[in-house]
Formats: sequence, structure tokens, C-alpha cells
Amino acid sequence: MNRTILILLLILAVSCQQKTKKTVTVMKIISGTVEQENFQTTYKNLKTDLFTIQNQNGIVLQVTNYGAKIVTLFVPDKSGNSGDIVFGYEKIADYLEGDKYFGAVVGRYANRIAAGKFTLDGKDYQLPKNEGGKNLLHGGDSGFDDAVWTGEVIETPEGKAVKLNLVSPDGDQGFPGTLNVEVIYTLTDKNELIVDYKAVTDKPTVINLSQHSYFNLAGHAAGPILSHELVLNADRFTPVDENLIPTGEIRPVEGTAFDFRTPHLIGERIANTEEQVVLGKGYDHNFILNKEKSGDLTFAASAYEKGSGRFMEVYTTHPAIQFYTGNFLDGSQIGKDGNKYVYRSGFCLETQYYPDSPNHPDFPSTVLRPGEEYKHRTVFKFSVK
Ligand code: GAL
Repeated sequence: MNRTILILLLILAVSCQQKTKKTVTVMKIISGTVEQENFQTTYKNLKTDLFTIQNQNGIVLQVTNYGAKIVTLFVPDKSGNSGDIVFGYEKIADYLEGDKYFGAVVGRYANRIAAGKFTLDGKDYQLPKNEGGKNLLHGGDSGFDDAVWTGEVIETPEGKAVKLNLVSPDGDQGFPGTLNVEVIYTLTDKNELIVDYKAVTDKPTVINLSQHSYFNLAGHAAGPILSHELVLNADRFTPVDENLIPTGEIRPVEGTAFDFRTPHLIGERIANTEEQVVLGKGYDHNFILNKEKSGDLTFAASAYEKGSGRFMEVYTTHPAIQFYTGNFLDGSQIGKDGNKYVYRSGFCLETQYYPDSPNHPDFPSTVLRPGEEYKHRTVFKFSVK
């Protein structure tokens, strides 16, 4: 190689390096008060950390391997200003003391199992009743949200990604079978955040994994989400009892406050006196997604916030989605930027199977057997209008 070409290559290499450095600085500024060192500690004898990835269009995602939690998600608004649109805390210590579900992957069974009991292949299992001594919620006293996963940043054909793995031992929280779980968060240059779930077991078990981010498209600290416009691609939902356990009925949304097949503001009917709205203390229900074929990746939901112009679409292979309007938030949780997460200031769109499926043989099965693979994908796609 001649000298001039070599020098040119060197200049190119240095300028590339400078560009990379610049990117890092930009990322630091826009990721606000969340610093990697505040996530580098040891919990349950395992190392926790913070992983940051970004796409070409300024979307930045920060994930901790503690609970496979999304900590920040910076998305540009209609003026090109980046804002963090998910709930989270600034350090691991806050996650340990605070609301453990903010941004977490919930499992082994997301949502509720009535009285924490189920029977599989003729054998009875008793799980923790971690919701007021009544039901199992989101996998038990120490679910996947409280586990330290292994984490690494990887490159995939679709974009940069954070890969997380967890081995949940046989008997973990009372569930049978060693479960090997993998969750990959990928940021694409089409402004998608893809969540890929995979799991295998060595004994028959039940599984229902979900992503529990609280979104506020106006910004995580922007207050009530009631003026977001929501669409849910669901003709039916599963009504609940006073403990938020499905009654077993599958009810059409037609003519109810649950009909989001055309856009409605979240707040429009949230104070209705309909029994189901009252029982849910607002929206806290499982919607059955319209699908021609189960397992297809199809449109599930969208949310639009006029002020910022941010528009989020959700696609999933899961059969259902839990729409929750932050009815239990009371301002006691102080998160990033010192913000108090007040009543209904975030909403969750948790793609999943139906709650309490192990006790409802007519619901889609959540049983996973050795030799089978639990494999699902959910896509959150961002744009502005
Ligand atoms: C949601 C659930 C709510 C509440 C929340 C965690 O998935 O539907 O009822 O338990 O998680 O606070």
C-alpha cells in the first residue's frame, strides 16, 4: 500500500473515532440523569449493569440486566427534540426499594393466577400469593423483575440490541421446570423497538412473559396520560372480578368503554360507572387481539399524544394485551429527574397470554413442555404526526 493511501486511511480512522466520541457525548447529554456507574453493583452475588444502544435517528434505549428492565427510552418529538417516554429510576438502589415492575420483563407468569394455584398433568402447584395474600402477581415474591439476568450488547441483522438471559431453576417461586429464558431488545433504523422472547424448559410448566414499561408519550414526567388517543385491535376482552381475576367470560367490547377499535382518548370513558371500569379502577384489563391466525405478528394497539406528536404502534405475536392506566400510582415513587409518578401518569400495553390461563382450560394454553420453544415477538414502532 502506498504512503499517501496509508495516511488517508489513518485520517479517515481518526475522524471516524472522533465521530464515535461525539456520539457518546450526545448520548450522555440526552440520557439525562441516568449514569452507568449507578447501575454497576452486586445484587444476589451477581453483577448489575446498564446497557445503552441507539439507532441512526436518535432513539436511545437504556436497559439494566436487573429485571431486564427498560430504564430510559428517548424518542424524538415532532420538532425533533428527544424525550424520555418511560418510567424509571436513576440507580439500582431505587429499583430495589421502588416499584419493581417499572420497565421490567415480568414472569414466569405475567399478570395474575387466582389464589396462586394451578394443576398441571394432575399435579397441584402452590405459588406465592404476593398480591395481598390473594393471588400470584407477575411471577411471585421474587419474579423475573427481581432477577439478575446476564446482559450484553450485540449486533443483529435488524440493528443494535441488548441480549439478556436468565436460568430460572426448577421450583423457582413454586413453578416446575428449569426455564432458560432469553429476551432481546433490538433498536432498528425503522424506529422500532423489538422485544424477542424465547424460553425452553426441562419439565412441563406454564409461562407468560410480558414487558411492563409505563409509557407517557409527552415525556415520563409529563403527568396524566388521559389525553393520549388510544386504539386497541380487540373485539373482545376478559371481564374481571373485584380481585382483577378473569371471570371466564369473553365479552364483546361493542357498546362499552372498552371499545377502542376506533381512536378514543384514554380519559374519555375512564370515569364511566360501568361495572367493569369500576372494578378495574379504570382500565386494567386483558383485551383479546383480533388475529386470523394465532402466532402471527399483527397490529395490537397504537397511542398518540397530540402535544409532542409522538405516535407509538404495537405489533405482537401474543394473543392478548393488558391495558393498564396506572390506577395504583399515587406519587409515592420518585424516579428519574426527581419526578413523582402520580396517579395515571403512565400507561402499560403489556402483550401477553390471558391472565389466570392455567385455571381456564378454554383460554389459549400457557403450558410449555420439554422439546417445545416459547417464542414471541412484540414491536413498538415510533413516529410523529
Ligand atoms: C399491571 C396490572 C396492575 C398492577 C400493575 C403493577 O400489569 O395489570 O393491576 O398490578 O401491573 O402495579
